Amino acid sequence: MSRVVKLAVIAGDGIGPEVIAEAEKVLDAATAHSDVTFDKTRFSLGADRFLATGDVLTEDDLAGIAAHDAILLGAVGGTPNDPRLADANIERGLLLKLRFSLDHYVNLRPSKLYPTVPGPLKNPGEVDFVVVREGTEGSYVGNGGVLRQGTEHEIANELGVNTAHGVRRVVEYAFELAETRRKKLTLVHKTNVLVNAGKLWKRIFDETSEKHPDVAVDYMHIDAATMHMVDNPSRFDVIVTDNLFGDILTDLAGAITGGIGLAASGNLNPSGEFPSMFEPVHGSAPDIAGQQKADPTAAIGSVALLLDHLGLAAEAQRVTRAIEQDIAERTDEPRTTAQIGDAIAARLTA
Ligand code: NAI
Ligand code: MG
Repeated sequence: MSRVVKLAVIAGDGIGPEVIAEAEKVLDAATAHSDVTFDKTRFSLGADRFLATGDVLTEDDLAGIAAHDAILLGAVGGTPNDPRLADANIERGLLLKLRFSLDHYVNLRPSKLYPTVPGPLKNPGEVDFVVVREGTEGSYVGNGGVLRQGTEHEIANELGVNTAHGVRRVVEYAFELAETRRKKLTLVHKTNVLVNAGKLWKRIFDETSEKHPDVAVDYMHIDAATMHMVDNPSRFDVIVTDNLFGDILTDLAGAITGGIGLAASGNLNPSGEFPSMFEPVHGSAPDIAGQQKADPTAAIGSVALLLDHLGLAAEAQRVTRAIEQDIAERTDEPRTTAQIGDAIAARLTA
């Protein structure tokens, strides 16, 4: 029986359209002989759209996107400090709005260091871990305000929100993910200082642990975790953490595993109530946009996460294998964005 997946494609700004073209190429190659077809709808969103129309994300955009089964996103955002974008606030008005409205409570960021990829660590060992970052709560919910702005008595608050429900569902997801991997889960927080939120996270983590006796658990403060990620990253398998700590830790994870051109991510709504969104971790890279210099591997890796999320595990594995083979055979010879996409796609059709 054939299956149709409704896919919303947001190519976005800068290198977004360049890397998404390659991601789509690989998606098409991976599913060419399967009984799944992707019915794609393109949404024009981001800095260019804002400059053209003044809109960041309308209610119609949101409803249109929400009617899809999954979302593939390149990158959005213009040149930093462009005065015409001063009021656009694309990060909060578009990316965070999508994540909150579509209840993307798991932000999944796998980090793997490939032997041929030069990283900044001297003796990193085997690095292969996944950060499960909470995506809908914490300090990023916009629960704050400012008083007496511009004066010496200005007060600025940004209140972190942690709910038992929100913590439990992401912690449960992390335990289930750990079951499918090396069965090791580390909670990262700052329970010694952020005592209220910390107690909630630790209690729910411990309670959930009792239901998963085969998963070995560990706890680390965020500051210690950044140190261990550099000292001995091979100790990690799955890490679960809150929105803010996860944002910081995943940039570090990206840096130690060879950089931004390889880091893929998924913003998941595991309950399936809303479409999940898959995107490279990097931004629109205005400095190299339109020059075919961007590495599309992170966007293609996001396609593997997308396929896996849709239950197409065999196709996902084939894409991952093709990426790994391509990375293993990379030389210093520069390749265009399209050449990298072609090479990875060719491994799937061969
Ligand atoms: P960026 O990730 O776009 O670029 C940082 C550096 O990495 C640049 O030197 C860029 O050339 C390089 N780079 C990024 N992706 C690459 C790739 N695939 N291959 C090779 N090199 C790559 O971050 P930046 O410059 O801070 O932000 C640029 C714009 O992107 C801003 O408007 C920012 O708000 C936006 N942004 C959007 C994100 C998203 O859509 N999820 C995430 C991060 C930033
Ligand atoms: Mg970030």
